Amino acid sequence: MCGIVGYIGHQEAYSILIKGLHRLEYRGYDSAGVAIINPDYRLNIYKHTGKVAELESFCRAKDISGTIGIAHTRWATHGEPSDINAHPHSSTNGRIAIVHNGTIENYSILKQALQQHGCEFNSQTDTEVIVKLIEYIQNENNCTLLDAVREALHQIVGAYAIAVIDSDNPDTIITARKSSPLVIGIGEGETFIASDASPIIEYTNKVVYLRDNEIAIITRNRPLKVITTDNEESKIDIQTLRMSVSQLEKGGYPHFMLKEIFEQTDTIFDCIRGRVVANGTAIKLSGVNDHPDRFINAGRILIVACGTSWHAGLIGARLIENFARIPTRVEYASEFRYANPVIRPDDVVIAISQSGETADTLAAIRLAKEAGAFVYGICNAVGSSIARETDTGTYIHVGPEIGVASTKAFTGQVTVLTMLALAIGQLKGTISSEQIAEVGRSILRLPDLIAETLELNPQIEKLSAIYTYVHNFLYLGRGYNYPNALEGALKLKEISYIHAEGYPAAEMKHGPIALIDKEMPTVVIAPDDELHEKVISNIQQVKARGGSVIAIVTKGDTTIPAMADHVLEIPRVPEALSPIIAAIPLQLLAYHIAIMKGCNVDMPRNLAKSVTVE
Ligand code: F6R
Repeated sequence: MCGIVGYIGHQEAYSILIKGLHRLEYRGYDSAGVAIINPDYRLNIYKHTGKVAELESFCRAKDISGTIGIAHTRWATHGEPSDINAHPHSSTNGRIAIVHNGTIENYSILKQALQQHGCEFNSQTDTEVIVKLIEYIQNENNCTLLDAVREALHQIVGAYAIAVIDSDNPDTIITARKSSPLVIGIGEGETFIASDASPIIEYTNKVVYLRDNEIAIITRNRPLKVITTDNEESKIDIQTLRMSVSQLEKGGYPHFMLKEIFEQTDTIFDCIRGRVVANGTAIKLSGVNDHPDRFINAGRILIVACGTSWHAGLIGARLIENFARIPTRVEYASEFRYANPVIRPDDVVIAISQSGETADTLAAIRLAKEAGAFVYGICNAVGSSIARETDTGTYIHVGPEIGVASTKAFTGQVTVLTMLALAIGQLKGTISSEQIAEVGRSILRLPDLIAETLELNPQIEKLSAIYTYVHNFLYLGRGYNYPNALEGALKLKEISYIHAEGYPAAEMKHGPIALIDKEMPTVVIAPDDELHEKVISNIQQVKARGGSVIAIVTKGDTTIPAMADHVLEIPRVPEALSPIIAAIPLQLLAYHIAIMKGCNVDMPRNLAKSVTVE
């Protein structure tokens, strides 16, 4: 949610900043802007509503020279998307510029206080308050920019990652974070900053993840210095990134979303590598093996997450209860954090997050830790806040997910949750080695089974043409595939703007059946499992009311094809793995319908990839 980039070094900053903004555009695309100090020590700020490409057109024929600069791509929180509300924001004297990712909770009190001192504001943003406060403190106390930033950070309440430049100090960027991510890339005579590592990786793989309440002072040709907001020197931990530039590019696909759907053969291979061992008969997850007592003695498991990750959590809860026999509840992190929840020291709290930066999930983790629970993270972004704040965990290792709609991260999360449930069951002795082997061997075959499922693509593309202009969709599933129905509906609505609802199939007759008519298609996830017969009667109920049915069935099913309007056949897998395979046609259906409607699938309206605000 909002992306920030900064550069100081020997190269011209502009193109590095713009390229960085393109990489971070998935975090927000309401407006974009840059601030660069030119060789005459003049601070030039250019900003524009809309995507980064519009900023680039706007900057043509402008003075974009300079080797120090900061930039921002915005997902609007305070104030509508407009040129004025776009970042960077500047001080009244026009010398200091700031970019900010986060939200300042006490901004209106601070704004009123500053206005009483004669300070004028141009925008409706909380960010302008920070820069005007820094300027006010500097003027009042005649102090350095660093001291003014430090004092301002003491006065603001909220979440922030900021970068500040000052044309009076053209050799320094000051950057700080609290609850919003910030990475510093250390190059040869040049330093990069960004909200995540993607704008940095092509220049250097040496990075420092700033911690909460830390301020970095990045000075040209001097070593990086990091202090806390209480002015204590911090230890600098330089890490080596294991990411490649090709992972951040479309690789010949028209959209990141399609690339990420097709990548799942490889991403699931990376996700299970070294974890399903001994020919599928044992599971090795260091997060579980290193803390056996926590799982053996767990009174309960609580899963916290948001959005798609929450759907993965619902599948995970069922898997854990089935294989490990530990009572498991799933909570929206945003509800959990304010629900005054009962958390016990023998609880294991599992936090699921692709980005590892979701504000509500992070807050839920902190609450759980305060209560003494053991917190296990399932993240994709290596080194992210959630990965660092949890006691242990498992990375899903599916590589950077750029498309705003989550696809490969979902299947990675469900795969990790399946292995986790088996690993705990193995540890507790609640499942037999035959059961582990049955699922374990099929997990090893997942990459091939996904490849087979992806062959449905041309059929789904044709099918999508029939349903492009429908206004409402219903998704039904049972058991492990009820959360998949929710996920399928979410995928469709977020990228195609078609209203869709997911339901447990049997719940349909308790209300939603009233909606069924020939205008409203129903997608039914109906693999050949224990509940197959029940789902067949749900399909008949839809058909009896004139509704059309798109059914996802196991290859070889002869009953459902006789009654459904369209059938998508997926390979046979053990029941526990069916949500991973069934997710693929759901993703492709949403993708093709959205494309046929002319929607921007990688950057759907109003959304941002990483929700770092409440
Ligand atoms: C939907 C989607 C979102 C995220 C949610 C949580 O396609 O991507 O619903 O799943 O914002 O994000 P993470 O997993 O980064 O915590």
